[in-house]
Amino acid sequence: MAKAKIQFECVTCGHISSKWLGNCPSCGEWHTFKEITKAASSSPAHKAKVAGLGATAQPLGLNEIENSVQRRQVTGIGELDRVLGGGILPGAFILIGGDPGVGKSTLTLQIAKSRPELRILYCAGEESASQIKQRAERLGVDSGNLSIYSETQVDLILETAQKEAPDLLIIDSIQTLYRTELQSMPGSIQQVKECAALLQQLAKKKELATIIIGHVTKEGDLAGPRVLEHMVDTVLQFEGDKHYTYRLLRTIKNRFGAAQEVGIFQMNEDGLKEVLNPSEFFVSENGRSVSGSAIACTIEGSRPLLVEIQALVSPASYGTPQRTSSGFDRNRLTLLLAVLEKRCGYQFSKYDVYLNVVGGFRLNDPAADLAIVCALVSSYKDEAIAQGTFCIGEVGLGGEIRTVPRLVQRVKEAEKMGLQNGIVPKNQEKGIDHTPASDLFTAIKKALG
Ligand code: TYD
Ligand code: MG
Repeated sequence: MAKAKIQFECVTCGHISSKWLGNCPSCGEWHTFKEITKAASSSPAHKAKVAGLGATAQPLGLNEIENSVQRRQVTGIGELDRVLGGGILPGAFILIGGDPGVGKSTLTLQIAKSRPELRILYCAGEESASQIKQRAERLGVDSGNLSIYSETQVDLILETAQKEAPDLLIIDSIQTLYRTELQSMPGSIQQVKECAALLQQLAKKKELATIIIGHVTKEGDLAGPRVLEHMVDTVLQFEGDKHYTYRLLRTIKNRFGAAQEVGIFQMNEDGLKEVLNPSEFFVSENGRSVSGSAIACTIEGSRPLLVEIQALVSPASYGTPQRTSSGFDRNRLTLLLAVLEKRCGYQFSKYDVYLNVVGGFRLNDPAADLAIVCALVSSYKDEAIAQGTFCIGEVGLGGEIRTVPRLVQRVKEAEKMGLQNGIVPKNQEKGIDHTPASDLFTAIKKALG
């Protein structure tokens, strides 16, 4: 057996040093070094043994390995299955990250409702068992297949998970778990990493599908999700604005399916509902045309999505004109205004400009440039764009309209939503029966007459 060795470890970030330090070179914290005795015990194999995972693997020929793709377990929630690449594989280790309150616990609890035959073990560190019961009842979850385990000590969770052998293990959340041997607080990078590593070994060895929930702040600086990304098979990011009910579930990484897929949900009183026709959701339904409004078609994941853009242009009351943008990059807005001024002669420098993407949606697709430009000019001239019009195209600095990827798919979506008049880039693929425009001047003329 290897000789025990004295080392010093930062309790905040887990940095190891052979001598005591006052200031941690890794995380910059002061007085965080504690003496630890490092036996041979910290090798991964030993950790696995401690956790009762034992058994060493044997090399296998590729054709001896069973293909588990056919054994994908669907969650029964269509939008979730979509971002997972068609369901959960046995042994998949999945991270769902997102701001507190976005709906991570709600979503995972709802799996129990959509798949009553799945045996789910839900480890709750955030709320008490009775709080979860209350919520589950409100969500209409039949408690038969769902066991709530109020435990945050990871070794006990590993033990119970092996004993119970559920179809799906849910950890809510990774920041609440801890290992008694470590001196740092639950939620510190060291604890999060260690607990996740143990859960990952369990998932792989026992083929136990595991979902871990992790909080992340806007800056992404909280211990957790960032350090876990390389450890997990799939990272899903749950996004949403507090003031709106829609929620986007994005695939950030997926070893078992397409990355960059998006699931769209709406948060109601009785939980998350899938949004099956998102285009309806982001286009305001008042039916009348007002100046400053234009419709763009963006692509989210693999899906086209119509979004309405509203612009308000009014004479500037002070020397420096205002530029306010919600749901769209302000620098890009300034750039488009400069192009309009230079290439088409609209004097936007004398006007305040407010831009809004309807429904709280965040738009970062250059294909929406043309719709933004049309909304701006429509408000500037106080002339409404005819109903049933949509605009697709990227605007270049020379005032040219550039073609965009997946144009046919976008146009089809707009047609499906009953919009007949499209203004599209001229260098388009064949089979698109809409008004082509090669430059801004033509496009604006076609949109506003
Ligand atoms: P929750 O799932 O607890 O978020 P997270 O686990 O990501 O922190 O969701 C909490 C929010 O969702 C809370 O603000 C209340 C709201 N909510 C609803 O609007 N309807 C519901 O049916 C539920 C369960 C929650
Ligand atoms: Mg929660």
